[in-house]
Amino acid sequence: MQPIKVRAETADDFRAIDVVNLSAFEGEAEAQLVGELRKSGGFIPDLSLVAELNGRIVGHVVLSRVKLKSAAGSSEILALGPMSVVPSQSHRGIGSELIEAAVARAKPLCYSAIVVAGHPDYYLRFGFKPVQDWGITSNLSIPDDALTAMELVDGALSGGGEVEYPDLFKALF
Ligand SMILES: CC(C)(COP(=O)(O)OP(=O)(O)OC[C@H]1O[C@@H](n2cnc3c(N)ncnc32)[C@H](O)[C@@H]1OP(=O)(O)O)[C@@H](O)C(=O)NCCC(=O)NCCS
Repeated sequence: MQPIKVRAETADDFRAIDVVNLSAFEGEAEAQLVGELRKSGGFIPDLSLVAELNGRIVGHVVLSRVKLKSAAGSSEILALGPMSVVPSQSHRGIGSELIEAAVARAKPLCYSAIVVAGHPDYYLRFGFKPVQDWGITSNLSIPDDALTAMELVDGALSGGGEVEYPDLFKALF
């Protein structure tokens, strides 16, 4: 397989990212969420990444800001997702490359942790852990064991708390 290039999205990629999301998910909710996220205050252009294969966009992941509210106060962490790889290119490590690139890019931007809703079995292999390890919950309608997180700064999640996703995510969860 040709090497995968992972890079930040540009405006020229929006349509191709839509196509990736529409092909990977049933329905339009994830593609719409990505579009809405771009217009929202939590969006970070450098953390909306595409995977390119032979000049074609075959995968996408977005990390955006969410609040973590704990007894110690409120802080900003990152939420990973939606994430997608076109079905014709799945199971080839492209999703793994996107996650590793996203984590590597989030660290120098000084975010302290990343949380992910859904598919815990997939994310555990990258070092994400069940949020129950830190006593963390969320405002999403998902079981707490469907939420995993990774500290980018040691101890960042040790105070527990509730992850407050923006209402935009409630179309999915
Ligand atoms: C999940 C997804 C992004 C993985 O991308 P990928 O490029 O296939 O991932 P990788 O090749 O790095 O890893 C593949 C492994 O992930 C695991 N995996 C894939 N989908 C999974 C899922 N839904 N739940 C748990 N594990 C999963 C499998 O163990 C697979 O291993 P295998 O190839 O030996 O079968 C891709 O399958 C996809 O777009 N799925 C539909 C959309 C989705 O569910 N997105 C994630 C939630 S936002």
